[in-house]
Amino acid sequence: MQPPLSQDALKAQVAQAALAYVRPDTILGVGTGSTVNKFIDALAASGIRLRGAVSSSDATTARLQAAGIAVLPADQVQALEWYIDGADEIDGQGCMIKGGGAALTREKIVADLAAKFLCIADASKRVQVLGTFPLPVEVIPMASANIIRRFARLGGQASVRLNPQGHPLVTDNGQHIVDVRGLRITAPLALEDEVSAWPGVVTVGIFAHHRASVCLLGAPHGVQTLRF
Ligand code: A5P
Repeated sequence: MQPPLSQDALKAQVAQAALAYVRPDTILGVGTGSTVNKFIDALAASGIRLRGAVSSSDATTARLQAAGIAVLPADQVQALEWYIDGADEIDGQGCMIKGGGAALTREKIVADLAAKFLCIADASKRVQVLGTFPLPVEVIPMASANIIRRFARLGGQASVRLNPQGHPLVTDNGQHIVDVRGLRITAPLALEDEVSAWPGVVTVGIFAHHRASVCLLGAPHGVQTLRF
């Protein structure tokens, strides 16, 4: 019997499958994370020539440039056909939790430029209800204590994300991340709207307004295509 594929191998599988969605000589929106890193590697090896990419983080920009892919400023691109990114969780409607890599704000900005969102993820990310993965929220630091209290009133336990040195992690945008445990997000669109309206919230990591159009899910028996 074949040994089961590792999570890493499943990510590599969906990264490879995502190449079928890339049209040469177009501009692509590119997300952040370990699955996207594999996608960038696969794209570089494929020989497909892009006009360029719009990047969602400093880390992705560095990886794209190292692969010889031109990175275009988001404010100089009017529209994209596809945004390709991973997810921390995805539900049966294509709504996602994102931001485990702290890049959620720029991810949502680039996703907003795109007509379609292609989510690439291993099967462990598919859930019935969002919320087991702590919900990341990028916040302006002076608001974090109040935002933590607001989540407590919703039944969530929130805390400021720390870096390996034990200090608040600082995002590419110079802000902090609050991670919220204990939420059962049965109405993602409504919670995204509510939290987005709180003073000091930069971006909530619920992607319901920018849910996936298609998800390539890496499973042991092959890549499953979910359309939403
Ligand atoms: C980055 O901030 C996140 O939104 C990532 O897209 C998400 O955490 C998925 O990452 P992996 O591909 O590393 O699982």
